[in-house]
Amino acid sequence: MPSDLIYRKGYSVEKDSLQQLGILSYSQFKNILSPEGWQMMNKFLHNDKMWTQLVSSSNIFVCEDNDKLVGMAYLVPGGNPTHIYPADWSYIRMVGVHPGYRGKGIAKRLTQMCVDHARQTNEKIVGLHTSEKMDDARHIYESIGFRIHKEIDPIYGMRYWLYRLDL
Ligand SMILES: CC(C)(COP(=O)(O)OP(=O)(O)OC[C@H]1O[C@@H](n2cnc3c(N)ncnc32)[C@H](O)[C@@H]1OP(=O)(O)O)[C@@H](O)C(=O)NCCC(=O)NCCS
Repeated sequence: MPSDLIYRKGYSVEKDSLQQLGILSYSQFKNILSPEGWQMMNKFLHNDKMWTQLVSSSNIFVCEDNDKLVGMAYLVPGGNPTHIYPADWSYIRMVGVHPGYRGKGIAKRLTQMCVDHARQTNEKIVGLHTSEKMDDARHIYESIGFRIHKEIDPIYGMRYWLYRLDL
């Protein structure tokens, strides 16, 4: 069947499919992280409470191919501070693309949709955090205009940076 990619908003009722896509997209880290790092990441990916919280607090953007979800990104609005993000930042989370659909510009387009939405809803800052082993992702974020704000504590045994984009 010819590939016919559709970009649209995602919905919290799609939580199970989104979680499955998350598990699939991040599975490459099994061979990249230490066993302890992967165990922590895998636990996070299977954490039902985390997904419930993520889908209920975010604006979700997805890419689908013939009714199959193949890409996702989440924009959490300002007013949802964490130990990483101040209250006046919106932030992008869990950008993931199905391994069979990489290199088609899906992640870049979904990230851009998050930024566009932030701009339309009068956010002033968009943040995200990403790591040393995510060169492809960092390339996308930098090409959209994100710049390193600071290095943060390691996660899963990897160096991580907090990026920001001022709108
Ligand atoms: C990172 C990820 C989301 C990228 O998805 P994708 O749809 O294949 O990415 P895109 O096609 O939009 O963008 C690819 C861009 O990165 C570039 N790229 C790909 N691999 C790269 C690499 N190893 N180093 C540098 N750039 C790379 C491509 O050339 C392209 O750049 P261009 O737009 O200038 O041509 C996907 O690989 C993924 O799901 N990875 C696992 C989860 C993850 O790491 N998420 C990010 C968390 S911060």
